[in-house]
Amino acid sequence: MSGQRNILLLGGSGFIGKQLAFALANRGWQVTVPSRRPHRNRELLVHPGIRLLEGNITDPARLRELCVGQQAVINLVGILHERRKGDFRRYHVEFIKTLVDACGETGIRRLLHVSALGADQATGSSLYLRSKGEGENLLHTFGQRELRVTSFQPSVVFGKEDNFINQFAGILRWYAGYFPLACPTSKLQPVYVGDLVELIVNAIDDPESYSKRYPVCGPEVFTLRQILELIIDTLQLPVRILPLGKGLSRLQAVILQSLPGKLFTMDNYRSLQVDNVCADGEHCETSLRQYLHGLSAMFGNKRYYDQFRKNYPSAGKPGDHR
Ligand SMILES: NC(=O)c1ccc[n+]([C@@H]2O[C@H](COP(=O)([O-])OP(=O)(O)OC[C@H]3O[C@@H](n4cnc5c(N)ncnc54)[C@H](OP(=O)(O)O)[C@@H]3O)[C@@H](O)[C@H]2O)c1
Repeated sequence: MSGQRNILLLGGSGFIGKQLAFALANRGWQVTVPSRRPHRNRELLVHPGIRLLEGNITDPARLRELCVGQQAVINLVGILHERRKGDFRRYHVEFIKTLVDACGETGIRRLLHVSALGADQATGSSLYLRSKGEGENLLHTFGQRELRVTSFQPSVVFGKEDNFINQFAGILRWYAGYFPLACPTSKLQPVYVGDLVELIVNAIDDPESYSKRYPVCGPEVFTLRQILELIIDTLQLPVRILPLGKGLSRLQAVILQSLPGKLFTMDNYRSLQVDNVCADGEHCETSLRQYLHGLSAMFGNKRYYDQFRKNYPSAGKPGDHR
């Protein structure tokens, strides 16, 4: 393909999306990122290869407009909690239909999609995982007639501005004594955002990846408890984990889902009932343990992650530069 290559990055203002936007722009793509709140994502504009536009992409007319002139689309739009009943279906399934239509009408032939590890329309343990699975199936069947589709199914993703390590670190810093942890034995295989981004960027022009669905994991399997203990250790916090059994874990989910911010919901609880780990031996390189170790060496053990985010906005993985 010659000349300017344009790519539409849906969800490009989110945690994974921002990293992906810079990686694509660095490889010469002209990246368009629509956002409902572009004023909150102005850091994307420092790269001349990124165009940040206002737009609600669930509006079919707006989505069609955004698709015109693009060679490929990457979809990262997804939610972890429903604000309104039906949101999972709205964003993970209905939106996919709108997207496939928009691609068909504007002649787009390549679509990459970020789903989630454990996504399965029939057997997913939560509404999140079933809706993610249904959206993926739609793309790989109905969408497949016109589009070359590739899906990525990451386990939990870590990195600068993640919603996982940062969220726990932000909560744990307010604790002294015992922290009651739901689902402490659930297993996860965290993957570094830079590794995921590289897989996605490399797949765009790789015909081998057409029609494939890739589980994406990091090198280590942790229980949720082990991950929190790693954070506590790294930050040298005066906190110990109080592991909750099934009944109390459910009770915590019921209480927290009724509070603003929905830190933990019954649907999250159900997602954690099945181990979120890759079946085969293949995995990405970057280790969460080494990543946290690197950060603590960089900032001193007593600094918190939110300070890290505020005070050192250009930092990624230690040693990495965008
Ligand atoms: N992070 C993880 O650990 C993880 C693990 C497995 C799978 N995933 C999947 O990876 C994808 C990206 O995750 P993330 O953590 O980067 O998510 P995130 O930080 O919450 O970002 C979500 C993005 O979706 C966009 N979006 C949502 N509704 C929109 C709308 N109506 N119009 C325009 N944009 C809309 C948001 O844009 P604006 O708010 O700017 O409009 C935001 O950029 C999701 O599909 C998620 O399910 C993530």
